[in-house]
Amino acid sequence: MSVEDFRGTPCGKLHNAVLITGAGQRIGHYLARKFLEETDWPVLFTYRTPRPGVTELEAAGARGLMVDLTVPDAAEKVARFVADQAVSLRALIHNASLWLKDEALATSPAQLQALVRLHMQVPYELNRLLVSFLRAASADLKDIISLSDFNTERGSDQHAFYLATKAGLQNLTKSFAKLYAPAIKVNDIAPALIMFNEEDPPAYRAQRLQKSLLQIEPGPEVVWQTVRFIMQNPYLTATSIPLDGGRSVV
Ligand SMILES: NC(=O)c1ccc[n+]([C@@H]2O[C@H](COP(=O)([O-])OP(=O)(O)OC[C@H]3O[C@@H](n4cnc5c(N)ncnc54)[C@H](OP(=O)(O)O)[C@@H]3O)[C@@H](O)[C@H]2O)c1
Repeated sequence: MSVEDFRGTPCGKLHNAVLITGAGQRIGHYLARKFLEETDWPVLFTYRTPRPGVTELEAAGARGLMVDLTVPDAAEKVARFVADQAVSLRALIHNASLWLKDEALATSPAQLQALVRLHMQVPYELNRLLVSFLRAASADLKDIISLSDFNTERGSDQHAFYLATKAGLQNLTKSFAKLYAPAIKVNDIAPALIMFNEEDPPAYRAQRLQKSLLQIEPGPEVVWQTVRFIMQNPYLTATSIPLDGGRSVV
Protein backbone atom coordinates (compact mmCIF):
# COMPACT_ATOMS: atom_id res chain seq x y z
CA MET A 1 0.00 0.00 0.00
CA SER A 2 1.41 3.40 -0.89
CA VAL A 3 1.56 6.44 1.34
CA GLU A 4 -1.01 8.07 -0.95
CA ASP A 5 -3.54 5.54 0.32
CA PHE A 6 -3.66 7.38 3.62
CA ARG A 7 -3.86 10.92 2.32
CA GLY A 8 -6.96 12.74 1.28
CA THR A 9 -7.90 12.93 -2.40
CA PRO A 10 -7.52 16.30 -4.12
CA CYS A 11 -11.08 17.08 -2.95
CA GLY A 12 -10.05 16.32 0.63
CA LYS A 13 -11.72 12.94 1.02
CA LEU A 14 -10.04 10.33 3.17
CA HIS A 15 -8.93 6.82 2.28
CA ASN A 16 -8.95 3.89 4.70
CA ALA A 17 -10.51 5.90 7.52
CA VAL A 18 -11.64 4.47 10.84
CA LEU A 19 -15.13 5.48 12.02
CA ILE A 20 -15.82 5.35 15.78
CA THR A 21 -19.25 6.10 17.24
CA GLY A 22 -19.50 7.98 20.55
CA ALA A 23 -15.88 9.11 20.71
CA GLY A 24 -16.33 12.32 22.71
CA GLN A 25 -15.16 10.78 25.97
CA ARG A 26 -13.64 7.81 27.77
CA ILE A 27 -13.03 4.61 25.77
CA GLY A 28 -14.17 5.90 22.36
CA HIS A 29 -12.08 9.04 22.78
CA TYR A 30 -9.05 7.00 23.84
CA LEU A 31 -9.37 4.75 20.79
CA ALA A 32 -9.65 7.76 18.47
CA ARG A 33 -6.53 9.34 20.01
CA LYS A 34 -4.57 6.12 19.68
CA PHE A 35 -5.51 5.74 16.01
CA LEU A 36 -4.31 9.31 15.43
CA GLU A 37 -1.09 8.86 17.40
CA GLU A 38 -0.06 5.34 16.48
CA THR A 39 -1.48 4.56 13.04
CA ASP A 40 -1.82 6.11 9.62
CA TRP A 41 -5.57 5.55 9.49
CA PRO A 42 -7.49 8.86 9.45
CA VAL A 43 -10.26 9.12 12.04
CA LEU A 44 -13.94 9.92 11.62
CA PHE A 45 -16.09 9.93 14.72
CA THR A 46 -19.55 10.74 16.02
CA TYR A 47 -20.39 12.46 19.29
CA ARG A 48 -23.61 13.51 20.98
CA THR A 49 -22.36 16.12 23.45
CA PRO A 50 -19.79 18.80 22.63
CA ARG A 51 -17.00 18.11 25.11
CA PRO A 52 -13.32 19.13 25.40
CA GLY A 53 -12.48 15.68 24.01
CA VAL A 54 -14.26 16.52 20.77
CA THR A 55 -12.29 19.76 20.30
CA GLU A 56 -9.09 17.89 21.10
CA LEU A 57 -9.74 15.18 18.49
CA GLU A 58 -10.66 17.73 15.82
CA ALA A 59 -7.53 19.76 16.58
CA ALA A 60 -5.51 16.55 16.10
CA GLY A 61 -7.02 16.01 12.65
CA ALA A 62 -10.06 13.80 13.28
CA ARG A 63 -13.35 14.79 11.67
CA GLY A 64 -16.42 14.67 13.90
CA LEU A 65 -20.19 14.60 13.39
CA MET A 66 -22.52 15.68 16.18
CA VAL A 67 -25.50 13.34 16.10
CA ASP A 68 -27.90 11.76 18.55
CA LEU A 69 -27.85 8.14 17.41
CA THR A 70 -31.29 7.47 18.87
CA VAL A 71 -33.16 9.68 16.37
CA PRO A 72 -34.90 7.76 13.57
CA ASP A 73 -32.66 8.83 10.66
CA ALA A 74 -29.38 8.72 12.61
CA ALA A 75 -27.70 6.02 10.54
CA GLU A 76 -28.48 7.86 7.30
CA LYS A 77 -26.95 11.04 8.77
CA VAL A 78 -23.79 9.14 9.65
CA ALA A 79 -23.65 7.51 6.21
CA ARG A 80 -24.00 10.94 4.54
CA PHE A 81 -21.20 12.27 6.75
CA VAL A 82 -18.95 9.36 5.76
CA ALA A 83 -19.75 9.89 2.07
CA ASP A 84 -18.90 13.60 2.41
CA GLN A 85 -15.62 12.92 4.18
CA ALA A 86 -14.21 9.64 2.86
CA VAL A 87 -13.95 7.33 -0.10
CA SER A 88 -13.20 4.24 1.98
CA LEU A 89 -13.22 2.84 5.53
CA ARG A 90 -10.58 0.58 7.10
CA ALA A 91 -12.77 -0.07 10.14
CA LEU A 92 -16.14 0.68 11.69
CA ILE A 93 -16.27 0.63 15.51
CA HIS A 94 -19.61 0.54 17.32
CA ASN A 95 -18.77 2.10 20.68
CA ALA A 96 -21.65 4.49 21.53
CA SER A 97 -23.70 3.20 24.43
CA LEU A 98 -26.07 4.03 27.26
CA TRP A 99 -25.75 2.12 30.54
CA LEU A 100 -29.29 2.38 31.91
CA LYS A 101 -30.75 0.56 34.87
CA ASP A 102 -34.11 -1.18 34.54
CA GLU A 103 -35.60 1.09 37.19
CA ALA A 104 -34.86 4.10 34.95
CA LEU A 105 -36.59 2.35 32.04
CA ALA A 106 -39.74 1.32 33.88
CA THR A 107 -41.50 4.62 33.25
CA SER A 108 -39.83 5.52 29.98
CA PRO A 109 -40.67 3.67 26.77
CA ALA A 110 -38.53 6.26 24.97
CA GLN A 111 -35.46 5.10 26.88
CA LEU A 112 -36.23 1.47 26.06
CA GLN A 113 -36.39 2.48 22.41
CA ALA A 114 -33.13 4.43 22.78
CA LEU A 115 -31.28 1.30 23.93
CA VAL A 116 -32.65 -0.72 21.04
CA ARG A 117 -31.69 1.95 18.54
CA LEU A 118 -28.23 2.63 19.96
CA HIS A 119 -27.08 -0.95 20.55
CA MET A 120 -28.89 -2.82 17.77
CA GLN A 121 -30.63 -0.77 15.11
CA VAL A 122 -27.91 1.79 14.38
CA PRO A 123 -25.08 -0.80 14.26
CA TYR A 124 -27.25 -2.98 11.98
CA GLU A 125 -28.06 -0.06 9.68
CA LEU A 126 -24.49 1.28 9.63
CA ASN A 127 -23.13 -2.17 8.78
CA ARG A 128 -25.41 -2.19 5.75
CA LEU A 129 -25.09 1.45 4.72
CA LEU A 130 -21.29 1.54 5.01
CA VAL A 131 -20.30 -1.84 3.60
CA SER A 132 -19.40 -0.33 0.22
CA PHE A 133 -16.94 2.01 1.97
CA LEU A 134 -15.30 -0.94 3.73
CA ARG A 135 -15.13 -2.89 0.49
CA ALA A 136 -13.53 0.14 -1.19
CA ALA A 137 -10.61 0.24 1.27
CA SER A 138 -7.21 -0.60 -0.19
CA ALA A 139 -6.03 -1.98 3.17
CA ASP A 140 -5.60 -5.76 3.12
CA LEU A 141 -7.85 -6.26 6.15
CA LYS A 142 -11.16 -4.55 6.90
CA ASP A 143 -12.99 -4.74 10.21
CA ILE A 144 -16.26 -4.14 11.94
CA ILE A 145 -15.83 -4.21 15.73
CA SER A 146 -18.49 -3.73 18.38
CA LEU A 147 -18.19 -3.14 22.11
CA SER A 148 -20.78 -5.15 23.96
CA ASP A 149 -20.60 -6.28 27.59
CA PHE A 150 -19.23 -9.33 29.38
CA ASN A 151 -22.38 -9.64 31.48
CA THR A 152 -24.50 -10.74 28.52
CA GLU A 153 -23.25 -14.20 29.59
CA ARG A 154 -24.61 -13.86 33.10
CA GLY A 155 -27.63 -11.57 32.98
CA SER A 156 -28.35 -8.98 35.65
CA ASP A 157 -31.13 -8.18 38.10
CA GLN A 158 -30.58 -4.44 37.50
CA HIS A 159 -29.57 -4.06 33.85
CA ALA A 160 -31.71 -6.70 32.12
CA PHE A 161 -32.81 -4.61 29.15
CA TYR A 162 -29.41 -2.96 28.63
CA LEU A 163 -27.85 -6.44 28.53
CA ALA A 164 -30.53 -7.81 26.22
CA THR A 165 -29.69 -5.12 23.67
CA LYS A 166 -25.95 -5.73 24.11
CA ALA A 167 -26.61 -9.44 23.50
CA GLY A 168 -28.36 -8.40 20.31
CA LEU A 169 -25.30 -6.39 19.31
CA GLN A 170 -23.07 -9.43 19.95
CA ASN A 171 -25.37 -11.60 17.88
CA LEU A 172 -25.16 -9.23 14.89
CA THR A 173 -21.45 -10.05 14.82
CA LYS A 174 -22.13 -13.61 13.75
CA SER A 175 -24.63 -12.72 11.02
CA PHE A 176 -22.55 -9.93 9.52
CA ALA A 177 -19.40 -12.07 9.68
CA LYS A 178 -21.24 -14.60 7.51
CA LEU A 179 -22.65 -11.94 5.19
CA TYR A 180 -19.40 -10.07 4.61
CA ALA A 181 -16.79 -12.86 4.59
CA PRO A 182 -14.16 -13.15 3.34
CA ALA A 183 -13.65 -9.45 2.56
CA ILE A 184 -14.58 -8.00 5.94
CA LYS A 185 -13.97 -9.42 9.44
CA VAL A 186 -16.66 -8.81 12.03
CA ASN A 187 -15.86 -9.20 15.73
CA ASP A 188 -17.02 -8.07 19.14
CA ILE A 189 -15.25 -7.18 22.39
CA ALA A 190 -17.19 -8.01 25.56
CA PRO A 191 -15.69 -6.00 28.43
CA ALA A 192 -16.31 -6.36 32.13
CA LEU A 193 -15.05 -3.44 34.25
CA ILE A 194 -12.76 -1.19 32.20
CA MET A 195 -13.22 2.24 33.78
CA PHE A 196 -15.23 3.44 36.73
CA ASN A 197 -17.48 6.46 36.37
CA GLU A 198 -16.24 9.52 38.27
CA GLU A 199 -19.16 9.45 40.67
CA ASP A 200 -18.73 5.77 41.68
CA PRO A 201 -18.25 5.68 45.49
CA PRO A 202 -15.26 3.89 47.06
CA ALA A 203 -17.33 1.04 48.51
CA TYR A 204 -18.83 0.28 45.09
CA ARG A 205 -15.39 0.41 43.49
CA ALA A 206 -13.95 -2.01 46.04
CA GLN A 207 -16.84 -4.43 45.56
CA ARG A 208 -16.51 -4.33 41.74
CA LEU A 209 -12.76 -4.94 41.92
CA GLN A 210 -13.35 -8.06 44.02
CA LYS A 211 -15.43 -9.45 41.17
CA SER A 212 -12.49 -10.22 38.89
CA LEU A 213 -9.47 -12.43 39.42
CA LEU A 214 -7.05 -9.67 38.50
CA GLN A 215 -8.76 -7.03 40.69
CA ILE A 216 -7.70 -3.94 38.73
CA GLU A 217 -9.44 -1.14 36.88
CA PRO A 218 -7.45 -1.67 33.68
CA GLY A 219 -8.43 1.52 31.85
CA PRO A 220 -8.99 1.95 28.09
CA GLU A 221 -5.51 0.79 27.02
CA VAL A 222 -6.67 -2.84 27.23
CA VAL A 223 -9.52 -2.07 24.83
CA TRP A 224 -7.06 -0.44 22.45
CA GLN A 225 -4.80 -3.52 22.66
CA THR A 226 -7.76 -5.75 21.81
CA VAL A 227 -8.89 -3.55 18.93
CA ARG A 228 -5.36 -3.65 17.49
CA PHE A 229 -5.16 -7.42 17.99
CA ILE A 230 -8.41 -7.89 16.07
CA MET A 231 -7.40 -5.51 13.29
CA GLN A 232 -3.99 -7.11 12.80
CA ASN A 233 -5.25 -10.69 12.89
CA PRO A 234 -6.22 -12.12 9.46
CA TYR A 235 -7.87 -15.26 10.87
CA LEU A 236 -10.37 -13.86 13.32
CA THR A 237 -14.03 -13.28 12.54
CA ALA A 238 -17.46 -13.99 14.08
CA THR A 239 -16.00 -13.92 17.60
CA SER A 240 -16.76 -12.07 20.80
CA ILE A 241 -13.61 -11.63 22.89
CA PRO A 242 -14.20 -11.45 26.65
CA LEU A 243 -12.10 -8.71 28.23
CA ASP A 244 -12.88 -9.46 31.82
CA GLY A 245 -9.84 -9.96 34.08
CA GLY A 246 -11.02 -13.48 34.85
CA ARG A 247 -14.52 -12.41 35.88
CA SER A 248 -16.03 -15.55 34.37
CA VAL A 249 -14.61 -17.86 37.05
CA VAL A 250 -15.22 -15.71 40.13
N1 LIG B 1 -16.43 1.45 30.88
C1 LIG B 1 -16.58 0.18 31.18
O1 LIG B 1 -16.10 -0.29 32.24
C2 LIG B 1 -17.34 -0.72 30.24
C3 LIG B 1 -17.73 -2.00 30.67
C4 LIG B 1 -18.44 -2.82 29.80
C5 LIG B 1 -18.73 -2.40 28.51
N2 LIG B 1 -18.32 -1.15 28.10
C6 LIG B 1 -18.66 -0.73 26.74
O2 LIG B 1 -17.56 -0.06 26.15
C7 LIG B 1 -18.03 1.07 25.38
C8 LIG B 1 -17.40 2.36 25.86
O3 LIG B 1 -17.61 2.48 27.26
P1 LIG B 1 -17.53 3.89 28.00
O4 LIG B 1 -17.50 3.59 29.44
O5 LIG B 1 -16.47 4.73 27.37
O6 LIG B 1 -18.96 4.47 27.62
P2 LIG B 1 -19.55 5.93 27.96
O7 LIG B 1 -18.64 6.72 28.78
O8 LIG B 1 -20.92 5.73 28.45
O9 LIG B 1 -19.53 6.61 26.54
C9 LIG B 1 -20.27 6.13 25.49
C10 LIG B 1 -20.41 7.21 24.44
O10 LIG B 1 -21.67 6.94 23.83
C11 LIG B 1 -22.26 8.18 23.55
N3 LIG B 1 -23.71 8.13 23.48
C12 LIG B 1 -24.57 7.81 24.46
N4 LIG B 1 -25.84 7.99 24.04
C13 LIG B 1 -25.75 8.44 22.77
C14 LIG B 1 -26.71 8.82 21.81
N5 LIG B 1 -28.01 8.79 22.06
N6 LIG B 1 -26.28 9.24 20.60
C15 LIG B 1 -24.96 9.30 20.34
N7 LIG B 1 -24.00 8.96 21.20
C16 LIG B 1 -24.40 8.53 22.42
C17 LIG B 1 -21.86 9.08 24.69
O11 LIG B 1 -21.98 10.42 24.24
P3 LIG B 1 -22.04 11.68 25.24
O12 LIG B 1 -20.67 12.24 25.17
O13 LIG B 1 -23.10 12.53 24.71
O14 LIG B 1 -22.38 11.15 26.61
C18 LIG B 1 -20.45 8.63 25.00
O15 LIG B 1 -19.49 9.43 24.35
C19 LIG B 1 -19.55 1.07 25.50
O16 LIG B 1 -20.12 0.40 24.41
C20 LIG B 1 -19.79 0.31 26.78
O17 LIG B 1 -21.06 -0.33 26.83
C21 LIG B 1 -17.64 -0.32 28.94
